Amino acid sequence: MKIGGSVITDKSKPFTLRKHVLNRIASEIAKAIAETKIRLILVHGGGSFGHFVASRFKNKLTTTSCIEIHEAMERLNRKVVSYLLKHGVKAIPIDTISLFVLKRKHVFKAFLEPIVNALNNDLVPVLYGNVVFDVAEGFSILSGDTIAPCLASKLGFENLFYAIDVDGVYKRYPPRSDDDLLEVLDLHKAKVGVGKIDVTGGMANKLIEIAKWIKGKKVKVILFNALKKNHVYMVLRKLK
Ligand code: IPE
Repeated sequence: MKIGGSVITDKSKPFTLRKHVLNRIASEIAKAIAETKIRLILVHGGGSFGHFVASRFKNKLTTTSCIEIHEAMERLNRKVVSYLLKHGVKAIPIDTISLFVLKRKHVFKAFLEPIVNALNNDLVPVLYGNVVFDVAEGFSILSGDTIAPCLASKLGFENLFYAIDVDGVYKRYPPRSDDDLLEVLDLHKAKVGVGKIDVTGGMANKLIEIAKWIKGKKVKVILFNALKKNHVYMVLRKLK
């Protein structure tokens, strides 16, 4: 499950956690795990931590900016993990920069054994979008929106969830009515991309990454509004 940075942080204020949301989501995850055995990997975004620091450096990745982005993301990750632990989720942080190497922003190498071992030991690995090494460009940002479908695909997961701050994918945005919300999106038929389906850059990128990693695989993808109570729990329990 990818948990969006806009869900757990207040993007309008630097380094601001949405504590009540994070607390509720952690409790819903704990409840779902207590009730049913789930093999779960969590990936969270950068929100007002990583994205804020990156934009302060005008998204230029230098050694200085990368150190600061990484530090901010580690700080956010520690907070996410501490809320999960408080609710009894056996969360273990796994740093993205040690697992993935990119080449021109695309995943070039992925060392997934620590994740597999964590899962085999009944732990919930908690990864996050972060700066990583790029053999062609020095550094690149690897978004949680890429990490999640990449892991789902490479580790053979059946479900991929995106906990976001809107109700799902809209035909146009902002929507004019509830009818604009797409119930089902067939990525085999849809021409995903900005301008094809009218979505924000963030949403378009999610769909592009999902299509790239999941096409042809039997993975059910659900994008849902995690700002609404119980949705994380219901999705994990696969309830309507
Ligand atoms: C971004 O991760 C990480 C950094 C900016 C370092 P994501 O792309 O997954 O973050 P959100 O969910 O959009 O905030």
